[in-house]
Amino acid sequence: MLVRQVKRARQKSFDLTPNWVKPAIQKAFYVLHPDASWETYKDKELTRQAFIERFFDSEAELDSYEAEFMNGVIAENLKRAYDELGDETFYDIHKDDCVRYYAYIRKYKPETVVETGVFHGVSTLAMLAALDKNDHGTLYSIDYSSLLDPTDDADVERYERRRPSCAQRNSHLVPEDKEPGWIVPEKLHGRWEYVAGRSQRELPKLLSKLGSVDMFVHDSEHSKTGMLFEFDLAWEHLSPGGMLFSHHVAWNDAFETFVTERAPNAEHGKTAVHYVHFDKHSQPGWGKYARKPFTHVTNDTLSAPRQAVSDD
Ligand SMILES: C[S@@+](CC[C@H](N)C(=O)[O-])C[C@H]1O[C@@H](n2cnc3c(N)ncnc32)[C@H](O)[C@@H]1O
Repeated sequence: MLVRQVKRARQKSFDLTPNWVKPAIQKAFYVLHPDASWETYKDKELTRQAFIERFFDSEAELDSYEAEFMNGVIAENLKRAYDELGDETFYDIHKDDCVRYYAYIRKYKPETVVETGVFHGVSTLAMLAALDKNDHGTLYSIDYSSLLDPTDDADVERYERRRPSCAQRNSHLVPEDKEPGWIVPEKLHGRWEYVAGRSQRELPKLLSKLGSVDMFVHDSEHSKTGMLFEFDLAWEHLSPGGMLFSHHVAWNDAFETFVTERAPNAEHGKTAVHYVHFDKHSQPGWGKYARKPFTHVTNDTLSAPRQAVSDD
């Protein structure tokens, strides 16, 4: 309890600090704090640089998309939601991942984007804002939480077991009076199709209906079987040059298994490094990407048998 209050107070004072002072405070903190070494700081910076080199013409280009993210409809609605909710369960994805999804969409203008794991809708909002700005493309999102019966212990237990990252913070449900993705303003709904249900059931149907997708984002059930199931299926439907992003790859070795055994021809790397401090999440982590080659692939591994995933 006390630790939580101290963390909140620290976050509040940091929020009130003028923006130009923040980088210096962060750097000083990481130098002084035993868990937040320069190595982690460097990793974050190097990841950003590598992402720029691979996907953007210059740092200025990514900077300009970041500025759009920070100043437009996203910031406005995050603030509105934060004011309304005002608690720690609000941010269930890391800002840097969302900024990169936003920038990637702005630059590469995908036609069809699919995500699993909506919750309050931070990543959903980021991607829809980018599609809206492009005036092109549709986002399809799958989420299960509106169907979860909070009075059914077995259902909740099964659900939390499959979602270790969030269950640890008891943040498995959106508030009773809200639906997943509630922070997305009405004006961005035109490019959004929401599917309520488990991805094990809904993703195969959705992908068959769509045929091919240009970008896929996993942020639902972070179990190894659940992640591999989604990665394999999404990969099959990704268009040449299409991008698969996964949040929380550090929870298990699903992503590593995927890029070494199932899709060894994928170009892959870190999307963003999540920070330990100045962020409510208390452990480090990574979001990663795997990009499908443009050339036609005849590799047998792509048709390797999928691991069976039950829906219980
Ligand atoms: C980590 S949160 C998503 C956070 C979201 N991307 C954001 O930006 O805030 C995970 C979400 O995945 C959903 N989920 C968990 N397991 C699922 C499954 N098997 N199928 C569909 N949704 C699932 C949960 O309902 C929860 O809302």
